[in-house]
Amino acid sequence: MNRTGTHVIVIGNEKGGSGKSTTAFHLAIYLLYQGFRVASIDCDSRQQTFTHYVRNRRNWAQAHDLKLPHTTHYHLPLTRSDSIKENHRLEFDLFRQAVIEIEGHADFLVVDTPGFDTHLTRLAHSLADTLVTPLNDSLIDLDVMAHVDPVTGDPREMSHYARLVQRARTERLAIDGRAIDWVLVRNRISMLSSRSMRLVQSALEKISVRLGCRVAEGIAERVIFRSLFPTGLTVFDPLDDELLGGMPSMSHVSARQEYRLLLEALQLPVSERAEARRAAMTAWAQSASPPMHFQHMAAPP
Ligand SMILES: Nc1ncnc2c1ncn2[C@@H]1O[C@H](COP(=O)(O)OP(=O)(O)O)[C@@H](O)[C@H]1O
Ligand SMILES: [Mg+2]
Repeated sequence: MNRTGTHVIVIGNEKGGSGKSTTAFHLAIYLLYQGFRVASIDCDSRQQTFTHYVRNRRNWAQAHDLKLPHTTHYHLPLTRSDSIKENHRLEFDLFRQAVIEIEGHADFLVVDTPGFDTHLTRLAHSLADTLVTPLNDSLIDLDVMAHVDPVTGDPREMSHYARLVQRARTERLAIDGRAIDWVLVRNRISMLSSRSMRLVQSALEKISVRLGCRVAEGIAERVIFRSLFPTGLTVFDPLDDELLGGMPSMSHVSARQEYRLLLEALQLPVSERAEARRAAMTAWAQSASPPMHFQHMAAPP
């Protein structure tokens, strides 16, 4: 597939529950608020968490008459053929078609992937310009990258997933000579004992050197993420009384700040065209007078 203009962000990790879909959705909504055109593809045809997030957001916005930004979203339906091979072929074709449609029409494409290795997962990884891997904050979860010595934190053998990514990188380099910027993100950071924390941190640093990736400071463990999902909202939406039915908590504010820092750490490229569009939109938003309420327009009795 020949790709130009659209920057592809893939969220991947072979472990379920590491926060891939939550992170993918937050990145997509953040970029929308920055004025970019954002498309998304949910490759997890079994769980479809990202797709449910999108749907919840649309429903919530409609039910409450809210103007929220939405991504141009594609999902791969659960294929029902008895033949696994046939299912994979169908998913592959749908994915390919979606990427072709999106190309050139979006500044960013966010791809959420399932927690297992399929042909499609591999294809998605090889298309990444930026690969984000959320990792839960414990030595057990680092095991998805490398088998780590529990005492020294030294990485021993590379895991299956790390090898999958290295293969995707090699393929990508062969296809268009581009490198995949791979960023590990600590997610659900909790108050570990200081010894465990040091061990996780030093293991991550060693792993990143070994794998040629970067480590970004991540997102703390916060219950707020569970409460946002049913409404399809993110910490980037204006979390005011109208949206939330209450004022945002400190936890909202801190989570938003953490996500902002994460986005900065990703160092996503901003093309000149996208930058110009963004500036125009900001100027427009500042100059536009607030919409009139209906009663203002109604003729006096
Ligand atoms: N920083 C966080 N703090 C608390 N819960 C989180 C956080 N990130 C994700 N979760 C929760 O963890 C669960 C799994 O997240 P999800 O994004 O679906 O992971 P994955 O896509 O990797 O399977 C969800 O219930 C989600 O709300
Ligand atoms: Mg998921």
